Amino acid sequence: MAEKTIQFEVKRQSSPDADAVWEKFEVTWKPGMNVISAMMEIAANPVNTNGQETTPIAYDSNCLEEICGSCAMVINGKARMACSTLVDKLEQPIRVQPLTKFPVVRDLAVDRSVLFENLKAVKAWVPVDGTYDLGSGPRVFPQQQEVAYPLSNCISCCCCMEVCPQFNDATGFVGAATIAQVKLFNAHPSGKVLKEERLRALAGDGGVQECGFAQNCIQACPKQLPLTEAISDITRDVTLQVARDFLRA
Ligand code: SF4
Ligand code: SF4
Ligand code: FES
Repeated sequence: MAEKTIQFEVKRQSSPDADAVWEKFEVTWKPGMNVISAMMEIAANPVNTNGQETTPIAYDSNCLEEICGSCAMVINGKARMACSTLVDKLEQPIRVQPLTKFPVVRDLAVDRSVLFENLKAVKAWVPVDGTYDLGSGPRVFPQQQEVAYPLSNCISCCCCMEVCPQFNDATGFVGAATIAQVKLFNAHPSGKVLKEERLRALAGDGGVQECGFAQNCIQACPKQLPLTEAISDITRDVTLQVARDFLRA
């Protein structure tokens, strides 16, 4: 019996400034195969459907279980994680391309550093002084944990930014993931010492006001973060912070 195969079309780009081209590949089907395992097969045996040897495909991946966030790609027109996207659930040929709103490094690998710069800008961390033993941290009650836990599941994949109509050079919008992390760290008993600074960072151009509430982000998030709720809450908090700052001035 002939072996079952899967047809792929992969958008290739040899360097950040090179022109992109689509290349076709055929991969032997395996049970439970996901897109990243198919990319691994192609990278290990880089021969296209014309039988020509080509360069191995470049892509990012690490955990292979939707935890590290590195394998986000546009697969059949949809931003998703290549390691949790099963080939059996996709129409063929399966078209795989890099995220479109991030600079291409090579092939499917993109530079997602804008998200990490945005997280730095809003101080998305709990400030701790590591020079001495602080003892046990403040108590976090179960009700607070229930709010925080879903937000802490963000894997920095950037899918929410890829699908957001407002995330573009014209607006400079930080995107839903950063706003959700502001909610997470502002709710933390130690993290909230930076609450005002975080809210001020989200006021004005590129801040939370840029969101058009199209809600594409919540549909695309592979970890089901409550993004629209976070955006609503932080929009309210930013507005109150701006009003407080105005009255203090
Ligand atoms: S609600 Fe819409 S505009 Fe706002 S962050 Fe999500 S996708 Fe972007
Ligand atoms: S909020 Fe969701 S879609 Fe956005 S970066 Fe985090 S995990 Fe990815
Ligand atoms: S490889 Fe880590 S999320 Fe896909």
